[in-house]
Amino acid sequence: MPSAVRSLLFLAASFLAASAVPHDSHDHDHAANRALPSRWYHDEDHPVHALFRRGNTDGITYPAIGSNAPLPPEWAAGFPDKVDPTKLPQVWVDAYTKAKNAGKIPANVPVSTQANGGNPTYGNLNPTGAVVCSTTYKCRNNSTDVIWDAPDGVFASSFDDGPLPTSQPLYDFLNENNVISTHFFIGTNILYNPNEFAYCWNTLGGDLAVHTWTHPYMTTLSDLSVLGELAWTMQIIHNSTGGRLPKYWRPPYGDADNRVVAIAKEVLGLTTVIWNQDTEDWSIGEAGGATRAGVNQNLQKWITGPKSPGLVILEHELSNDTVGAFIQAFPLIAQNGWKFDSVARMDGGAVYQNSADANSSLTIGSVGVPVSAPPSSSSVGSSSSSSSQSSSSAGNNAAKTTSAQSAQATGANASTTHNGAVARFLSPVLAGAATFFSVVGTVFVLP
Ligand SMILES: *[C@@H]1O[C@H](CO)[C@@H](O)[C@H](O)[C@H]1NC(C)=O
Ligand SMILES: *[C@@H]1O[C@H](CO)[C@@H](O)[C@H](O)[C@H]1NC(C)=O
Ligand SMILES: *[C@@H]1O[C@H](CO)[C@@H](O)[C@H](O)[C@H]1NC(C)=O
Ligand SMILES: *[C@@H]1O[C@H](CO)[C@@H](O)[C@H](O)[C@H]1NC(C)=O
Ligand SMILES: *[C@@H]1O[C@H](CO)[C@@H](O)[C@H](O)[C@H]1NC(C)=O
Ligand SMILES: *[C@@H]1O[C@H](CO)[C@@H](O)[C@H](O)[C@H]1NC(C)=O
Ligand SMILES: [Zn+2]
Repeated sequence: MPSAVRSLLFLAASFLAASAVPHDSHDHDHAANRALPSRWYHDEDHPVHALFRRGNTDGITYPAIGSNAPLPPEWAAGFPDKVDPTKLPQVWVDAYTKAKNAGKIPANVPVSTQANGGNPTYGNLNPTGAVVCSTTYKCRNNSTDVIWDAPDGVFASSFDDGPLPTSQPLYDFLNENNVISTHFFIGTNILYNPNEFAYCWNTLGGDLAVHTWTHPYMTTLSDLSVLGELAWTMQIIHNSTGGRLPKYWRPPYGDADNRVVAIAKEVLGLTTVIWNQDTEDWSIGEAGGATRAGVNQNLQKWITGPKSPGLVILEHELSNDTVGAFIQAFPLIAQNGWKFDSVARMDGGAVYQNSADANSSLTIGSVGVPVSAPPSSSSVGSSSSSSSQSSSSAGNNAAKTTSAQSAQATGANASTTHNGAVARFLSPVLAGAATFFSVVGTVFVLP
């Protein structure tokens, strides 16, 4: 069973990763090249912003990625080894409950069962029917909540399962060729491989996306376990990248259904990304698995094939062979007239829910309400913008935005007021994580 092999492979990869933990990490040298925020209001359009905002922590210094003193690593200390659905932050559970009560999470899709690593099943329910619509069975819901294809002519690149010690040659290659890819990262791999993670973020400016905390078949999990798998991974990316909030996730084994897709979208604002071609590169070297030559043959076939739809090919940063196959095929992409792009930016939209990309400014704060001005000691930007922000932020704490409409109206105003008034400040924070200031206690309520 390919999926069984995959599980084993993943275990092996996790073990490798875990055994490779003791990197000394000194990421300070990579610290400064990420952009600082340039505006102080937030166009929030999804309640997820209320779950992760680095809000009422003004002035705190975030631990550097991989920081290892005091032990256990300060940066890692708050994150779990596994997801315990009974120990999720209450604010996540509340957001889930609210979405569920609002009927946004289908109640009629059962948790799937899985025997011997086979494909998940749903009892008598048809996995490709309109109730379940399992992506494992290639059911396409046709909603915009799930992406399978790239725009015509686009080779949309992404890599799963990193960061790993084997990732570095890939990162070097991407860096040398000046291209950006999407990295669907496993949360626990981020914890165990902070150096590779920091390199991908700080040096590559890679597009970071979610591949769950521990790489399970997501449809086999309860709603709250699904939530935790996604949210913990978002949290570590958020806390390590100056507050960026991932916008995309890819289910391990491509396993999602209407329930899982809805939890990702409705509670966390995440769009599900599958693929339209699978290299099976992960199985190179396994008994009965793909061969390196076979993977390259397939890549060549697809790259020299039709341009519609564009290609979303499943590839991994798992091993020398998976990375090597991509590197070998890379020149063919341009030679055959494809536009190389990152999955997260192939549609021309933002890479993160609150930022265009790694270099762009971050919008953070509360709905449409200008947030408190940064303290003058750390402000290196226009003082006039700071003071106008201070005044317009009066009453922030009391501001309860109770409808999206009023949020938008205020946002438009905030935008008029602050566009071009670029308030920058340098933070002393390690690892490129700027310190952000936000409204304390502002409540965001969607209709
Ligand atoms: C993430 O950052 C927040 C500060 O906004 C902090 O309160 C929280 O403990 C951090 N989470 C973890 C798991 O370290
Ligand atoms: C697509 O997903 C939506 C949201 O979960 C659901 O209401 C709808 O029934 C799904 N359609 C199909 C065909 O699966
Ligand atoms: C999605 O659209 C395709 C093409 O129109 C169709 O074949 C397929 O049945 C649709 N899927 C669902 C679940 O409705
Ligand atoms: C970010 O900015 C740095 C320095 O200006 C540049 O080298 C890099 O290519 C940019 N990365 C992205 C993702 O735009
Ligand atoms: C893979 O291993 C070979 C042989 O050790 C080495 O020459 C090559 O650079 C490696 N490729 C990658 C992408 O790491
Ligand atoms: C902007 O603020 C002004 C003054 O407070 C107010 O009169 C106007 O209606 C606001 N505009 C919007 C779009 O909210
Ligand atoms: Zn994976």
